[in-house]
Amino acid sequence: MHYFTEKDGNLYAEEVLVEDIVKEYGTPLYIYSSRTLKRHFNAFDSAFYNIPHITCFSVKCNSNIHVLNLLKNEGAGADIVSGGELYRALRAEIDPQKIVFSGVGKQEHEIREALQANILMFNVESMEELQKINEIALSMGKIANISFRINPDVDPKTHPYISTGLKENKFGININDAIYAYKSAKELKGINPVGIDCHIGSQLTEIDPFLDALDKLKVLYAELKELGIHIKYLDLGGGLGIQYKEEEPPHPKEFGEALSKALMGYPLTLILEPGRVIAGNAGVLITRVIYTKETSNKNFLIVDAGMNDLIRPSLYNSYHRIAPVKNMGREIKKYDVVGPICESGDFLAKDRELPESRSGELLCVFSAGAYGFVMSSQYNSRPRAAEVMVTGDEFYLIRERESYRDLVYLEDSIPFRN
Ligand code: LLP
Repeated sequence: MHYFTEKDGNLYAEEVLVEDIVKEYGTPLYIYSSRTLKRHFNAFDSAFYNIPHITCFSVKCNSNIHVLNLLKNEGAGADIVSGGELYRALRAEIDPQKIVFSGVGKQEHEIREALQANILMFNVESMEELQKINEIALSMGKIANISFRINPDVDPKTHPYISTGLKENKFGININDAIYAYKSAKELKGINPVGIDCHIGSQLTEIDPFLDALDKLKVLYAELKELGIHIKYLDLGGGLGIQYKEEEPPHPKEFGEALSKALMGYPLTLILEPGRVIAGNAGVLITRVIYTKETSNKNFLIVDAGMNDLIRPSLYNSYHRIAPVKNMGREIKKYDVVGPICESGDFLAKDRELPESRSGELLCVFSAGAYGFVMSSQYNSRPRAAEVMVTGDEFYLIRERESYRDLVYLEDSIPFRN
């Protein structure tokens, strides 16, 4: 459920006419609905009402500090994967005790920054990383709370690029090596093993892979208990899918009920790292048709948003629903919706049926609130899009459109040397 709706042929973001936002801020433009973000966060978080839990929003999917601050006010913590994301989370005033740090390649300075900030825990992905965290913690006179990211070898049945819990993936520690890892961790003076973590993939549309992973982690939990290693946190990662087209992912309520039931009676705090399910359908990308072009076998809509603005279709062949911002009820035609970038892979949709569109008109690309702006680049020297938040009948800028000056500002302070 989201608050981007059509009324009398006009697209609204909550109570605001999308055209009015575009008049002020131009295109390409990301628009987020605060009501949708809050609704999604609360639907997810409240699904776990009967077990202790922390919902750590996955910053990688949408890291705008205004989005983070809004979710923080609803009670969110943060799942981070870099020093930059830590910086953003802290700037958004997220409680460090609700921050978990994942990722296979944490660098020394990032570990130091996270220890300095006193985050809740590190999700450790290798034995070398464990040693590194130990050394740094000791040098700072601190003890780092850690969990190991366990690779449970379950198939999440999603796109191979976003599957992470199979044994051939680079993520986590093989479940068969887990006991050794925890025993080693226990010996280290700068380390306190407090959690078990896993994240098996993204855009999952079934609950079973989560439950399969959880079953394996529960066995590990019991084995660790026998060894006198007392685990307090179980982090199940993110990954719950959303509807882009015809997928029918479980409702967060169903997801929450299934996991809560499976964990009932365990003296654990569950940590969740949802990203897409909170932000995906809370944001859209608005783009303007620059030209229409008909060739012998294709109709093209050439729009002002390219793969640099939204790379998901090019990278994963993902489907994003597209609709006109003002529906004139014209005949349906089949289009390739393509960007201005000099690559054939620069498309937002292929063979898409849309009401006939003309140059100058606006299109809305739905489900762009997660892994949209954050994956954008300046490729082809295109300044990045602006971002706007809508709340009720108001809207405000949360990131300015980049300018040409922004394209070169880290270069032109350096004199030419020829
Ligand atoms: N936790 C960890 C450790 C993760 O690696 C991820 C996503 C999440 C949580 C959040 O997953 P979510 O709830 O959003 O599924 N760029 C791709 C998705 C990459 C996901 C990476 N990890 C896309 O556009 O589909």
